[in-house]
Amino acid sequence: MIKKNNLKIKEDYLKKIQIYKKYNEAYFNKSNPLVDDNVYDNLKKEILILEKKYPFLKDKESPSLNVGFKPSKNFKKVKHKVPMLSLNNAFNREDLVNFEKKILNFLNLERSDLLEYSAEPKIDGISASLFYKKGNFIQGLSRGDGVEGEDITENLSTITDIPKILKGKNIPEEIDIRGEVFIQNTDFKKLNEKFANPRNAASGSLRQKDPEKTKKIPLKFIAYTFGFSKNLNISNQSQFLKMLKNWGFKVNNYNRLIKGIDNLIKNHSALEAKRKEIDFDIDGIVYKINDFPVQQRLGFVANAPRWAIAHKFSANKSISEIINIEIQVGRTGALTPVAKIKPVNIGGVLVSNATLHNEDEIKRKDIRIGDVVIIERAGDVIPHVISVDLKKRKKSSKKFDFPKNCPSCGSSTIKEFNKITKKFDAVRRCTNDGYDCEKIAIEKLKHFVSKEALNIEGLGKKIVENFWNLKLIRYPQDIFNLDFDKIKNIEGWGKLSVANLKFSIEEKKNISLSKFIYSIGIRHIGQENAKLISKTLKTSQNFFNLGKNNNFDELLNIDGIGDTQINSIKDFFLNKKNLLVLEKLKENLSIQNEKENSKNGILKEKTFMFTGKLEGISRAEAKSLVEKNSGKIISNVSQKLDFLIIGEKPTVKKVNHAKNLRIKIISQSEFLKMLDIKDF
Ligand code: IVH
Repeated sequence: MIKKNNLKIKEDYLKKIQIYKKYNEAYFNKSNPLVDDNVYDNLKKEILILEKKYPFLKDKESPSLNVGFKPSKNFKKVKHKVPMLSLNNAFNREDLVNFEKKILNFLNLERSDLLEYSAEPKIDGISASLFYKKGNFIQGLSRGDGVEGEDITENLSTITDIPKILKGKNIPEEIDIRGEVFIQNTDFKKLNEKFANPRNAASGSLRQKDPEKTKKIPLKFIAYTFGFSKNLNISNQSQFLKMLKNWGFKVNNYNRLIKGIDNLIKNHSALEAKRKEIDFDIDGIVYKINDFPVQQRLGFVANAPRWAIAHKFSANKSISEIINIEIQVGRTGALTPVAKIKPVNIGGVLVSNATLHNEDEIKRKDIRIGDVVIIERAGDVIPHVISVDLKKRKKSSKKFDFPKNCPSCGSSTIKEFNKITKKFDAVRRCTNDGYDCEKIAIEKLKHFVSKEALNIEGLGKKIVENFWNLKLIRYPQDIFNLDFDKIKNIEGWGKLSVANLKFSIEEKKNISLSKFIYSIGIRHIGQENAKLISKTLKTSQNFFNLGKNNNFDELLNIDGIGDTQINSIKDFFLNKKNLLVLEKLKENLSIQNEKENSKNGILKEKTFMFTGKLEGISRAEAKSLVEKNSGKIISNVSQKLDFLIIGEKPTVKKVNHAKNLRIKIISQSEFLKMLDIKDF
């Protein structure tokens, strides 16, 4: 009897869910509501009441599990099998020399003539990753945050430069082909739509919900690299570029194979001179170590490969006048002076702000309000003031008086003493290190929702400021308790955009520990350090306990985390407001513990430390070998250390300490034996 009753209840419930789904679909995806709001709300209430009363009910489409229907403008999110990284920039010879020096050090090489580079124009477009299985185009993703992209397969399919079936020989079983989607300048000029530049037009077109609209804009595609691959037997980049051509892709005609910095610079100047003749925007040249095994050895630092760099083209310059100097307060309290200038067009972009970097820079260049200045803008780098035209300076002009108090909260400011350089910082900072300084708090919120942190779509910088002004948010946790009824009535907002925002916030509540640590904005803890801490602490509980127990010893062992970072973390946990924020975020977020190292290398669960000079291999590469084989590097001799590897002239103190603790001390050759490596 009871069973039968339950069946009936379930039936009723599912009927309601079906209707609810229909309303959602019409409202969110077709923007065409079927019923009045109150009818919709009542239905939702009825469903929720039923669920409360009969806990055995809960459909995956329930309103208690879904904040809104998946908004139509959001594409499906897909994780890249191999992350899409970014590149470090070089602006001059010195940067290139440093880049090459680091490579030589890592590889323990002395002669640079052994290094060969694939030099490829850097197209200023939108990158995409195309997955091919047995030569068939299966799925296309946007870059997204580099880890997770959007499924834009349909739109990419409209691009004729993207082969649907690969031709020729040696087609790997699976491969992600990566390249740039762009619009040619001549095509851009013919477009009716109002986009500021070809790059924006390409981006807008790729993100159209309707592929038919994408089709109307003549997008092009040039391929240049790959991500994941299976059965790809190619040993260098130039060979790979040839393959791409054979398979039916377009590659850049200006790609070159070059040795030596002098020749890189010659090629750079030649291409820069030709830049205007080329029918698409290029903002520099990418240099990649040509040899794949060498690329492999070099690996990555943070988000960029050690084996590649983008050599930017020189900047565009213009003359303008400083109308005012404003002081911006950053997330970490840094006071950054910004020159408001008479708007001027620099290389196709209207510029009205230029950074003056810091207090010392203003003093050094004696920059004043009213000055006529030369402004420089290079690619995506913030415009800055190069020099002042003193001849044009008015007699009445006065030296700029840099504020001694924070313009936002009035607190005193300081220039910190840097123990390493033994100099005072060039940057002046507000001493209010928390949420009590309005500008710092706003910047902290912007950081919290930014692309690299929570990555909440639809909650950009301007919206954060707007919500702040309307007193909707003060602390990060407020984002999870927004008053959507109020937001719905703000100008520019409507039901659909509110639903989209709700959806985006909900979607991001599930967060990895490393992203969480990064997002709370501890000074000196960037993405890379957050990853290191997360890998060591493993659980969010361990992270929260740092503050509770006032015990930071665990961090001492992390290779890459030093005194500066540890002191900053200590300061962070000493601040009561920070503790409260953490407490609240814990309630609102679902923080994923670090996944156990899934790789089963031979050094799994073993810890290593090096002392003394190694032979034939650099310290950096030795460390990277440990990590590639699932081992861990630690930076102190302690009970946690399994092996101390000694090279030439080791630090006696470390060796003795290890002996006392009965830690295994091994030579370089014994270490290499563990890895089954004979020699270098
Ligand atoms: S290689 C790890 N090659 O530049 C290697 N990138 O700042 C990264 N780009 O997101 C990519 N032309 O959108 C590579 N010939 C080229 C490129 C290129 C343009 C873009 C690409 C990437 C960005 C890196």
